[in-house]
Amino acid sequence: MKYMFDWKEKIKDEELKKVIDIIKSDGLVLVPTETVYGIAGNALSDRACKKIFQAKGRAQDNPLIVHVSDKEMIKKLVKNISDIEEKLIKAFMPGPFTLILEKNDIICDTASAKNTTIGIRMPDNSIIHEIIKKSQIPLAAPSANISGRPSGTSIRDIFEELKDKVDCIIDGGECKIGIESTVVKVIDGIPTILRPGYITQEDIKKVCKNVKLSANLFKKLEKDENVESPGMKYRHYAPKTKCILVAKSDRQIEKINEILLEYKNACVIGFKEDRNLIKTKKYIDVGSKYNMEEVARNIFSALRKVDREKVSLALIEGVDKEGLGLSIMNRLVRACENKIID
Ligand code: TXA
Ligand code: MG
Repeated sequence: MKYMFDWKEKIKDEELKKVIDIIKSDGLVLVPTETVYGIAGNALSDRACKKIFQAKGRAQDNPLIVHVSDKEMIKKLVKNISDIEEKLIKAFMPGPFTLILEKNDIICDTASAKNTTIGIRMPDNSIIHEIIKKSQIPLAAPSANISGRPSGTSIRDIFEELKDKVDCIIDGGECKIGIESTVVKVIDGIPTILRPGYITQEDIKKVCKNVKLSANLFKKLEKDENVESPGMKYRHYAPKTKCILVAKSDRQIEKINEILLEYKNACVIGFKEDRNLIKTKKYIDVGSKYNMEEVARNIFSALRKVDREKVSLALIEGVDKEGLGLSIMNRLVRACENKIID
């Protein structure tokens, strides 16, 4: 890393020029977005995108999302936008929403992992927006984490992991939302959620009556399986410590306490309301069970804390698979590599 910029209060013009120079010379920048931090590089440059794959240790068949500043830029990158796709763009961009569209040739093969489609996202965060707008370069940016690890929502959480992998780090404070964008592809005329995120199925239903959830969201998939979105197949969001998800039920707290009797050296990721009911000294508070927005904001940071606790097991309180809860559970099931107690 050559530069570290603090833009928590405001974007600094002189430093912005340096960031744009780095992007123009195929360098990588750690940037904030409203969802999670991203590792960003020029989406039109094979060389820059190859560096992104290398920095993350990302599987070659897993395409990157391309970030744009406005609708004009989308038009330059993709072809054949259908009426439904237009509607989705209008309703959810800018915002935590990624739409898979048919790509133009100017998007490099490395960014799309040789697919004919590309994920397009218009972030609602002034820092990444200004970089894209001033440079007029679309930015390929996957979540800022080594592949398989929890996504980064503050520089504090990812500094050690990524400091040697990028040319510049921009600190924009904690990410407002905390989990990644909702990835949607219109398949046979029906918007299909390939990765649930902050924008929920219910939100999309307000715009298009018919909305599907991919059948693969909670399945354990093999590496050679053919799925709509390659990211579904890989180990994801996982601490190094073994994690078990305890699904929501009337006996959720009791079940956790039973396991704690046997595993003395375990920590718990749980809700603030349950802190005094769960019998462990190593309690990682993820927020209120009545506030899924707060849980979403804290979940990746909580998963990262697990490894610092030096325990042999982490138990995680599950939430209802409703609304934003469904997106949170999608991350937790993967963090626990499908080890769930119902
Ligand atoms: O909120 C976000 O989306 C963050 C911030 C940085 O913008 N980015 C992010 O990127 O989460 P990444 O690369 O960590 O996740 C992108 C997901 C992967 O699961 C990938 O498989 C899927 O989107 N994806 C990307 N392009 C695709 C395509 N053409 N078809 C199907 N799935 C695609
Ligand atoms: Mg990711």
